[in-house]
Amino acid sequence: MYPLLFDLVFRRMDPERAHERGFRAIRLAAAVPPLAAVLRRALAPGTSGRVRALGLDFPAPFGVAAGFDKNAVGVRGLTMLGFAFVEVGTITAHGQPGNPRPRLWRELDQRAVRNAMGFNNEGAAAVAARLRSLRATPAGRALVVGVNIGKTKVTPAADAAADYATSAGLLAPYADYLVVNVSSPNTPGLRDLQSVDTLRPILTAVREAADAAPAPRGRPRVPLLVKIAPDLSDDDIDAIADLALELGLDGVVAVNTTIAHTRGAGGLSGPPLLHRGLDVVARLRTRLGSDPVIIGVGGITTAGDAREYLAVGATLVQGYTGFIYQGPFWASRINRALAADAARARTEVAA
Ligand code: FNR
Repeated sequence: MYPLLFDLVFRRMDPERAHERGFRAIRLAAAVPPLAAVLRRALAPGTSGRVRALGLDFPAPFGVAAGFDKNAVGVRGLTMLGFAFVEVGTITAHGQPGNPRPRLWRELDQRAVRNAMGFNNEGAAAVAARLRSLRATPAGRALVVGVNIGKTKVTPAADAAADYATSAGLLAPYADYLVVNVSSPNTPGLRDLQSVDTLRPILTAVREAADAAPAPRGRPRVPLLVKIAPDLSDDDIDAIADLALELGLDGVVAVNTTIAHTRGAGGLSGPPLLHRGLDVVARLRTRLGSDPVIIGVGGITTAGDAREYLAVGATLVQGYTGFIYQGPFWASRINRALAADAARARTEVAA
């Protein structure tokens, strides 16, 4: 059914417009309580895949990656479809329009997507206000929402720490976890912030700003993670893992889109990322040891791909591009398969 809809409707549409229309349909469905209740029940991942991580209960391992819901407008709709958690953002201290369109392209032969969005978002204060209303209801408080923050384009690299800290201070009170994104290829110079000497003061400033903000949802502190690019050298990955341990970070999100392609501007996502993503997660797990959380992301299409990430050391998994090609029941399918794995593993242990 969805492949037909994709071929007849979405594929003929400009990709960003298709995203806007699809996302609006999800939000509309979520705003009709009887429909939302039916869908939420039908697509719920069950309870056997539950993951305890970052001091939180994730209802299942698979969530939606950053970039899909940049302004936190669709958290209810996305969880209704069976995503276990939503990482909203990237959000910058100041609202900005992003790069001129077109800035999103399908690479149909690879079932991949290329984007040069450039952190289009409403800014930290506007998104904080939206998250505050989400958290004002018991249903909204029950949802797991990570908040991914980035640098405002016009802020010079030298002032990056203060820019990230502004976002952290505004958003931490509503976040289940915070992610410092230094790995998008679409903000000039951003990925240079991954070098440990520049990353250290940013992470330290974000930690301090988050700690100084009102306690998030009654918890002592908001967990802090860093999101890295797949294009880093192995030595750089080790250096970031060491920095994460030194600073007591709660985890790493790996990986963002890649610039290692010949298709034009922007970062590539989807199946071409899978192998490198798995390698990066495996390397991080070896270097970090067992405690820090790793959120594995990049090229997940099937439950089997998600299983591979979990097998090499990911605690949780996320996806974005697969949603475009696989349709609205994708997250539910993956989380149910992972929940069935967990149930089977438990039965085997008990037997
Ligand atoms: C992204 N991604 C992304 N990541 C991020 O940290 N902040 C962002 O704002 C965005 N924006 C964004 C827009 C679009 C259109 C895409 C396709 C991707 C990257 C995303 O979160 C993820 O890391 C990669 O897409 C790899 O996962 P998939 O898509 O292969 O499952």
